[in-house]
Amino acid sequence: MMNIFEELGEKKSIFKCKKYLDHRFLPDYLPHRDEQIKSVAKYWIEALGNVTPPDVTIYGKTGTGKTAVAKFAKKQLEQVARDKNVNVRVEYIRCTDYTTEYQVIARLCQQMGQDVPYRGWTKAEVVHAFRNLFKKNVFGKNLILIIILDEIDILLKNDGDGLLYTLTRTENVAIASISNYVEFKQFIKPRVKSSLRDREIVFPPYNAQQLVDILEERAKLSFNEGSLENEVIPLCAALAAREEGDARYALDLLRTSGELADEKGTDIVHEDYVREAKDNIEHNKVTDIVMTLPSQQQKVLESLLYLTNHKEEITSGRLYDVYKDITKGDSVSYRRIFDFINELEMLGLISTKTVSRGRGKGRTNIIDLQCDTHLLEDAMWQ
Ligand SMILES: Nc1ncnc2c1ncn2[C@@H]1O[C@H](COP(=O)(O)OP(=O)(O)OP(=O)(O)O)[C@@H](O)[C@H]1O
Ligand SMILES: [Mg+2]
Repeated sequence: MMNIFEELGEKKSIFKCKKYLDHRFLPDYLPHRDEQIKSVAKYWIEALGNVTPPDVTIYGKTGTGKTAVAKFAKKQLEQVARDKNVNVRVEYIRCTDYTTEYQVIARLCQQMGQDVPYRGWTKAEVVHAFRNLFKKNVFGKNLILIIILDEIDILLKNDGDGLLYTLTRTENVAIASISNYVEFKQFIKPRVKSSLRDREIVFPPYNAQQLVDILEERAKLSFNEGSLENEVIPLCAALAAREEGDARYALDLLRTSGELADEKGTDIVHEDYVREAKDNIEHNKVTDIVMTLPSQQQKVLESLLYLTNHKEEITSGRLYDVYKDITKGDSVSYRRIFDFINELEMLGLISTKTVSRGRGKGRTNIIDLQCDTHLLEDAMWQ
């Protein structure tokens, strides 16, 4: 009998090498990001003269290449530092994996070879261990350390700006924070703001033509030649341009379209597969989000769905009434509902806007569902 893996492995595929369409793959060439790469490099180059570079903040919507550019610049700087024999390190931390000041600093120590436990020590002890890394000369004299703090928003919101305070007060350390929100700064107190000698680099969304260029590069690496119908890449690009220029989404569309072709056993990706891929991706995204929501949050979503289906204008007061009906007594306070609304908005499931009711009547928040109600129903009742 044949081995199941060999049998499956022998199946013909439209992909020459699928890993090039994976999010984690870092291409050697990032079309339409020259300017941003140069901006980062312009600041970081100081490290090569053994001077601590200025801190930078990178802003931009999701999928605009922030992480890719930061990692690209890291790789290039490390390479030239090695060649020139300069003492520079760049450490990358994704703050959604390490969500407090303690965890980030412990992680930094670990990445730099100092064993520090993820819990149990006091904050002062971890900070001390971190600062000692510079003193002990483990890394030779005058180490310049650049720390990339990716997706820093949630950490700042939950844990405050203590991390930035500590790091900006550590000599020879430069920070590059990456954030989705321009409101990023609202979480930073003046004491840190003043020491963040901050330079800002903004990543604009990609337009459809730019996304075409990005996808073509990646398609060359990953698909067999001649396997994409002419309209496939432009359609992926156009759909993603509508999603605020999200390159990740464009890549997902292209990969999923290819997977559909493989499933169907054809050796051409047809334009229609892109539309099918779009439905699949949206369905999976909403399902993933809904399934992992805490049950009280799901009830809030259920109430929103009810009000939307009844074509009612949704205010937080009205939402709370329906929510209380649905939960039949097992409900959280009105105040907690505001947190839930915020979280659902961050997840992109809803949007809120403030409207003025006219003089003397004050202002009201109106909530709108941002995803297809049928998709949401499927996700909730499956
Ligand atoms: N200019 C580009 N050329 C090639 N690939 C790109 C380019 N910009 C982004 N990508 C790819 O698109 C995907 C998303 O990019 P990236 O992760 O850098 O976005 P991001 O701005 O960090 O998004 P988020 O805010 O969601 O973290 C990655 O797979 C990345 O390789
Ligand atoms: Mg990112």
